[in-house]
Amino acid sequence: MRFDTVIRHATVVTASDSFTSDIGIKDGRIVALALGLTEADEVIDATGLLALPGGIDSHVHLDQPSGDGIVMADDFASGTRSAAIGGNSTVLAFCMQEKGQTLREALKVYHAKAENKCHVDVAFHLVITDPTPEVLGQELPALVEDGYTSLKVFMTYEGLRLRDDEILATLDTARRTGALVMVHCENEDAIRYLIGRHEEEGKFAPKFHASTRPIAAEREATHRALSLAEIVDVPIVIVHVSNREAMEEIRRARQRGQKIAGETCPQYLILTADDLDQEALEGAKFVCSPPPRDKASQDACWEGLEQGVFDLFSSDHCPFRFDDAEGKLNEKGKRHFRWIPNGIPGVGTRLPILFSEGVRKGRIDLNQFVALTATNHAKLYGLYPRKGTIAIGADADIALWNPEKRVTLSNDLLQHGADYTPYEGLEVEGWPVRLLVQGRTVMQDGALAGADQPQGHYLPRGKSALVRPAA
Ligand code: URP
Ligand code: ZN
Ligand code: ZN
Repeated sequence: MRFDTVIRHATVVTASDSFTSDIGIKDGRIVALALGLTEADEVIDATGLLALPGGIDSHVHLDQPSGDGIVMADDFASGTRSAAIGGNSTVLAFCMQEKGQTLREALKVYHAKAENKCHVDVAFHLVITDPTPEVLGQELPALVEDGYTSLKVFMTYEGLRLRDDEILATLDTARRTGALVMVHCENEDAIRYLIGRHEEEGKFAPKFHASTRPIAAEREATHRALSLAEIVDVPIVIVHVSNREAMEEIRRARQRGQKIAGETCPQYLILTADDLDQEALEGAKFVCSPPPRDKASQDACWEGLEQGVFDLFSSDHCPFRFDDAEGKLNEKGKRHFRWIPNGIPGVGTRLPILFSEGVRKGRIDLNQFVALTATNHAKLYGLYPRKGTIAIGADADIALWNPEKRVTLSNDLLQHGADYTPYEGLEVEGWPVRLLVQGRTVMQDGALAGADQPQGHYLPRGKSALVRPAA
């Protein structure tokens, strides 16, 4: 057989195996894994490189409305560009329902935002902010059948949070339809109480974002979400876990027999609340929710990754420009932490950070890295085995990594829309040097490659491996 592309002499790594092989690609798919493949239009020599499944970042915010006068720093073009630079071949972005809007209307808006703009493949999670009987009874079941098989609910943020009865009703629809629900766990009433107390005490600096969102507020909401899921008898994903206490809630729920997935993110391994406590409002760069905690919490998140409490390592990329009236330093945000938009950029740095701090430092092995950054995302969000692995028949989504390349992270490298990275100056070892998406080279040596026109595809999805009945 003549291939479109052959990758030669690669060390192929999947979630379970590592082996030396050539990879034969035809019509965007992997069609051969063997030594001695030569007949191809294009031959890529991968001697000394690792061939990993392209990263799947299943927690990415792009082009979302973010409050009066605030503009998210990345649209689907710049966000997926940075994703490709960082070795990702698929991102799962959020489609945010506005209050009063139908889910179909929201999807129309987000498909239009993404159309002809994406450099990597994309799919959407639905964010449910208005769970009316029509939305839960009619729209959502039809959309799950159409391939929108996951959704997110918030327990915090004014205007987004759902009450417990609304969460129960949403979980019940998920149970009936086979959708997977992601839950943002922080107790909004407790946070509002603490914001009030801080205001009385004249505490307005960015660092007080962290002290108004304490671990107890995350732990309590995590416990409550897990309890609501137990009552309904439905699997859920606890997203962006920042500390041991919330993580232990996941362990305990699993011990009770619940099917739960857990996610953590780079910010909870690298940053702490001290990063918010800096001169000249610099701390605003690190405002995200839940906030980064302390060294003990970082150690706990590492333990969760090493021991399999966390299935997913995602970026929670939610970028705002720093020195910008439409970003972190908007007029109100300069004066009060509660008006600093929540979120940090990270889609381009997620993989190098875990590779360097996790694999190169011996905390996790390469197979765990692949599972945490690609395979588990594909399985949990209904993209497996088309995505998330290197196997015959899978899409040829392949990231070639130089495991020894040393890079000092800097904003210029990342090609996102934000004017900073929270990881400026961090030295990493291991870097994705080439990325193929459905067989096409999309990134090479830190630059977009190939066709000028973005060619990422929208991906309808099947049901999660977590909700499918065991065969
Ligand atoms: O601060 C954060 N994480 N912003 C993004 C929205 C969310 O809660 O995931
Ligand atoms: Zn969230
Ligand atoms: Zn998020």
